[in-house]
Amino acid sequence: MRLDKFICHHTGISRVEAKRVLRQGLVTHNDEVIKDPSFKVNDDTNIEFNGRSYGPVKPRYFMLNKLANTLCSTIDEEYPSVLSDMDLPHTKGLHIAGRLDVDTTGLVLITDDGQWSHQITSPKKQCMKRYRVWLAEPLAPDAEERFKEGVQLHSELELTKPALLNRITNTEVQLSISEGKYHQVKRMFGAIDNKVVQLHREKIGDITLDPELGEGEWRALTEQEINSVWQK
Ligand code: URA
Repeated sequence: MRLDKFICHHTGISRVEAKRVLRQGLVTHNDEVIKDPSFKVNDDTNIEFNGRSYGPVKPRYFMLNKLANTLCSTIDEEYPSVLSDMDLPHTKGLHIAGRLDVDTTGLVLITDDGQWSHQITSPKKQCMKRYRVWLAEPLAPDAEERFKEGVQLHSELELTKPALLNRITNTEVQLSISEGKYHQVKRMFGAIDNKVVQLHREKIGDITLDPELGEGEWRALTEQEINSVWQK
């Protein structure tokens, strides 16, 4: 990572401001003043600035139990962003690995590690996501079979990939899908003449929403949860 970016990341100041403090000779590495903003900061570099020492940049990983009426966006728009309530320092660079609709609740993964989130969001990786779904109408008897074979969504060229439906009652089910098309779960139930009235994400890959997390609460992922994304 470049030194100017490193300073922004750790202190929250802008890139322009970081370049200014560098020019002023306020940043040192092993007691040596570094003025070059493109100086490469490695895993073992320690930077001193403003009387504080900053260690290596470690990627961050969080799970959030998303509330309804919050937006999977990094900025507040029509609804508040899921990040605004988390009260994290340096939210710049954080992004959401697989968005949920405004009215959908449950598991949201947040990170600043793009390669890690790619394992979750890339269609090629076929990462399974499990949803709890409440329906307006009793589920059709052949729904399991139809979702396994794939259904035709409006304005899509191909059928949906095989999905696993677990019937809890006739109006409450779990659905596991490997894709992440726009409104996919709602559109899939629409394709079999039903309607989703409530949607909650329970699991992404091997990461399950922590039952200890109340609505709107979050925690850092464990090492095991982080590493699970790479194990296929
Ligand atoms: N599918 C939907 O329809 N909505 C979501 O929020 C997630 C999956």
